[in-house]
Parts: sequence; C-alpha cells; structure tokens
Amino acid sequence: MKFQGSDNYIATQDLMLAVNAALTLKRPLLVKGEPGTGKTMLAEEVAASLGMPLLQWHIKSTTKAQQGLYEYDAVSRLRDSQLSGAEEAARVRDIRNYIVKGVLWQAFTSDAPVALLIDEIDKADIEFPNDLLREIDRMEFYVYETRELVRAKHRPLVVITSNNEKELPDAFLRRCFFHYIKFPDAETMQKIVDVHFPGLKKELLAAAMKTFFEVRNLPGLKKKPSTSELLDWLKLLVAEDIPLEALQSQDDKVAVPPLVGALLKNEQDLTLFEKLVFMQRHNR
Ligand SMILES: Nc1ncnc2c1ncn2[C@@H]1O[C@H](COP(=O)(O)OP(=O)(O)O)[C@@H](O)[C@H]1O
Ligand SMILES: [Mg+2]
Repeated sequence: MKFQGSDNYIATQDLMLAVNAALTLKRPLLVKGEPGTGKTMLAEEVAASLGMPLLQWHIKSTTKAQQGLYEYDAVSRLRDSQLSGAEEAARVRDIRNYIVKGVLWQAFTSDAPVALLIDEIDKADIEFPNDLLREIDRMEFYVYETRELVRAKHRPLVVITSNNEKELPDAFLRRCFFHYIKFPDAETMQKIVDVHFPGLKKELLAAAMKTFFEVRNLPGLKKKPSTSELLDWLKLLVAEDIPLEALQSQDDKVAVPPLVGALLKNEQDLTLFEKLVFMQRHNR
C-alpha cells in the first residue's frame, strides 16, 4: 500500500514520502502546518486512495482522551431505572447497554483496516496527547465498567493534525512520524489552483497569484492568507466576474485588491496593507 497523491489533492514528493514512512513504521503521522494548508484534506485523500474508510475525531478545547475510547452514560441508565417496564429493568441490569463507543473503539473493532483522523490535537489541553499514548502504542485499552479488553483487530492508519498552537509532549512526539506541510511555493500553488479551477483564464490567474503572494509576503501581517483563502478569493473573483484590469495596477505598484476580505481577516492587517499602498502612491 502506497500513497501517491490523488486527482483532487496535490501532494509534494516529501509529503508522499512522509505518508508512506508512517505506513511502513506503523506509526501515527503527525502533520503540522499553517491553517488551510491541506492537513485535514490529506487524511481524507490518503484514506480514499488506500481504499480505507476514514473515522474522524475533531478535537475541541473540552475534548478528553477518554471520549475517544468510550463513555459511560449514567444519566440514561438512571432514567431507565426510574421507568417501571420489564424491558427497561432488563436493560438497566446490563451496564454494557450504557457504554457508548468512542471513535478509537470503532477503529479498533472495525472488520477492515481504517484510517483514523485526530484533527487539531493542539486544541485540547496539554494532558490529552499523553492520555492517548498507551492506546496508540499498544492498540488496546481496558473498559473498567465491563472488565473487557478492547484490542485492535487491525492497526488503523492514524493521522494527527496540529495547527501548532501548542507544543506537544516529547513522549508523544517520539511515537509519531512527523511532517511539516510547508506553505506551497508558486509552482505547487498553481497546481492546487488548477485542481480546483481547471478552466480559469491564464491572465486572471497570473494576476491573482501575483497579488496573493504580494499580500502574503507583506512583513508584519498578523495572519497570512493561506491556500484555502486564495481558493475562496478566486472563487469570488470568478463569481463576481471581476475584470483583469481590477487586479493589475497600471504603474506596477500595489493596489488594494477587490474583495480583499477573503484574504485579510483582521483590521490591523488591512490597515497595514492600505498604508503600504498609500505610501507607494505618494513616493512616486
Ligand atoms: N495540496 C492541496 N491540494 C488541493 N487542495 C488543497 C491542498 N491544500 C489545501 N487545499 C484546499 O484548501 C482547503 C483547506 O484545506 P484543509 O485540509 O481544511 O486545511 P487545514 O486542515 O490544514 O487547515 C481544502 O478544502 C482544499 O480545498
Ligand atoms: Mg483542518
């Protein structure tokens, strides 16, 4: 089984190498990178191209590791115990009826190998990755309520993403194969755009790309626009039928591009950009 990119997803050589290294080592693939650089989509595409179902676990600040294993639904059990029917009484007696399987449990007990995405692990608190070490290492966990051991039938392909908001613990890192998705260079970006907008006019695309990289390379930006922002912006340019001239400044100086709100997402960055345009105008 080897990952070789897909028709919808542009994978650089080093990214493909990383995916295949994780497959060979049977270790989780940890992918870091700016938001919008295709980390979540990578997991979807890898799963699809290897013909595996993808189980997704989207992490929030309140997510606990235990939720990925199972949860004991005590509230339902209590409610059932207050109902008088024989059916409920039988149900209440067996605690297994109130064990809710988490995504790791589902991945472990699936009949065919699956891919498991643990998305944005850096959202959770610092204990979260450490709490999953044993399960990810040994591919098993114990259910105390029912005294059963859940062991993986097949080792899932685990893809973990991080936007780098928090450092991850060393013990956790040791168990992963790491890859940083670098921001795409112009050539790769061109390919990504082609995948999404195959029919885009060459001149418009060239002008839009030039503007995009100008905005992105502006020193001091709080939030640089990324791939997904470029794609949004292009979509708008096409939908609004923005003429090419609106993107090209006559004197080769930077101008505030139309629909800039798709690229710059806070007022400081916008002000910075407008200042630059203003200064250039007055430096002639
Ligand atoms: N290499 C790529 N090939 C094709 N599309 C991409 C690529 N990288 C990013 N994209 C586009 O950018 C969007 C955002 O990607 P996503 O996976 O959600 O980013 P992340 O999870 O890193 O924040 C995707 O929906 C996809 O349309
Ligand atoms: Mg994502």
